Amino acid sequence: MSPSLSDHFIPLPVRRPRRLRINQAIRQLVRETHLDTRDLIQPLFIVPGSGIQKPVTSMPGVCQLSVDQALVAAAKAMQQGVGGVILFGIPSHKDELGSGAWEESGIVQQAIRALRAEFSDLVILADTCLCEYTDHGHCGPIRDGGVANDETLNLLGRVAVAQARAGADIVAPSGMMDGMVSAIRHALDDDGFDRVSILSYAVKYASAYYGPFRDAAENTPSFGDRQSYQMDPANRREALIEAMLDVDEGADMLMVKPGMAYMDILASLRQAIDLPLAIYSVSGEYAMIKAAAERGWIDERRVVLETLTGFKRAGADLILTYHATEAAQWLRQQG
Ligand code: PBG
Ligand code: ZN
Repeated sequence: MSPSLSDHFIPLPVRRPRRLRINQAIRQLVRETHLDTRDLIQPLFIVPGSGIQKPVTSMPGVCQLSVDQALVAAAKAMQQGVGGVILFGIPSHKDELGSGAWEESGIVQQAIRALRAEFSDLVILADTCLCEYTDHGHCGPIRDGGVANDETLNLLGRVAVAQARAGADIVAPSGMMDGMVSAIRHALDDDGFDRVSILSYAVKYASAYYGPFRDAAENTPSFGDRQSYQMDPANRREALIEAMLDVDEGADMLMVKPGMAYMDILASLRQAIDLPLAIYSVSGEYAMIKAAAERGWIDERRVVLETLTGFKRAGADLILTYHATEAAQWLRQQG
């Protein structure tokens, strides 16, 4: 026989948090965090040519797109109310300095121009880095076996100006070079692009979660790794230092990357910094969710919306995710 309540004196709870979970309407009334389609940024990988939609094996549902196909993808994203797109380029030609990144006819510049011409109100972000354009795959020129910081700064200025000229609204330096925000701000301002914003990948860790991206963007370093410029995953205080430097250098917004394994970092930055904060849920996070969902082991839609809500709860204003367009569609369906 199970013990009945009257066997012992148990004071009944006066505070009952369950009262506010009774039904969907009440739960919505007291919800603390709201995910909006406008919070989501869709990354796009641009390749030369036309009519190209080349699937990225390790990222099911993601394709390398030629400019004409990028227009289609951007239209779909806009239709679902996504907040913007961020562009990565895979050039036809790579060299030691990564000159394809700043050529006027460079692949990302072509895509920005086409998108700008077609969609005047689309928010266009450009990833500002050299690793997709260098023949060695590092984020700047190599001198004495390592990436030369200050030489890279000049080149990043050129890249940002080329992207701004093409019509980018926001440039997003991702190479973790010291002084990159300041260099880009000055280069943009000198060319009359004071209205172009900088979203700095201020806190970017040297992460194994970038694996699938390196297939998508074809930027795997030909030797070594990025640990001499990207952050050590073990460090939290250093994230605050990196973030404050970029605030001082004139960043308009800051990013933390990757996402799920670094939500504590995002929450710390949120307490210290009042600029808009972004988080980048990277290729490996996307791949893990897709792979488990394909096996029927998780409910993709619920896992994705839960994860994105977690980013907002931790303090993100913006979320870069390969699920952006799909997640926006799910959000609209659920109303
Ligand atoms: C390049 C860059 C990377 C990502 C964004 N910009 C890769 C890297 O640093 O190796 C990763 C994005 C992802 O994994 O989704 N600087
Ligand atoms: Zn890079």
